[in-house]
Amino acid sequence: MTKNISKIGLAVLISGRGSNLQSLIDACASDDFPAEIKLVICNIPGVYGIERAEKAGIPVAVIPHKEFPSRETFEQAMLDEIAKYPVDLVCQAGFMRIVTPTFIEPWRGRLINIHPSLLPKFKGLHTHERAIEAGETEAGCTIHYVNEGVDEGEIILQKSVPILPGDTPDALAARVLEKEHIAYPEAVQILAKNILEKQ
Ligand code: GRF
Repeated sequence: MTKNISKIGLAVLISGRGSNLQSLIDACASDDFPAEIKLVICNIPGVYGIERAEKAGIPVAVIPHKEFPSRETFEQAMLDEIAKYPVDLVCQAGFMRIVTPTFIEPWRGRLINIHPSLLPKFKGLHTHERAIEAGETEAGCTIHYVNEGVDEGEIILQKSVPILPGDTPDALAARVLEKEHIAYPEAVQILAKNILEKQ
């Protein structure tokens, strides 16, 4: 017998291979996970994440940012696409664009991102390399709300891993990525329960 629980709708924003998208697809496949992906938006044509969404039967909108005259017009195109679906939460998952208030304002408090460091440490790019160079003994990932600062919004959840002697950025990235794939569904589950309780 399938349990009939309510689910929130997700829009997932990607730019690349989409392994975090996959972790959400896999989590959403479970009857008792309180979310389902209504839409995937990708700003880079041809990347593997698009295939992952198509294989899962999820609508994909490829919206190449390069075809727009400004960040704002690109973001408006994403907003218009999202408005076509019953979306409660927008998840940036390896989405490599900085968003402006045009996109943030309508989704404030319902727009989240995954970042591969233990924020507030190592905002921005090349996090693993920088963590190793800084002599850190611990790295990890953070799920946080998106606000106007880059990687600065309120933290929802973090998971850490050790940095081992002789670690390369690639080895550390792979160790962190395993935690990312656990953290993102966990964060969505927490937020979905909050959203459903308020409905
Ligand atoms: C992840 O490490 C994510 O934290 C970072 O970019 C990577 C995207 O990987 N922002 P994927 O596309 O989800 O596989």
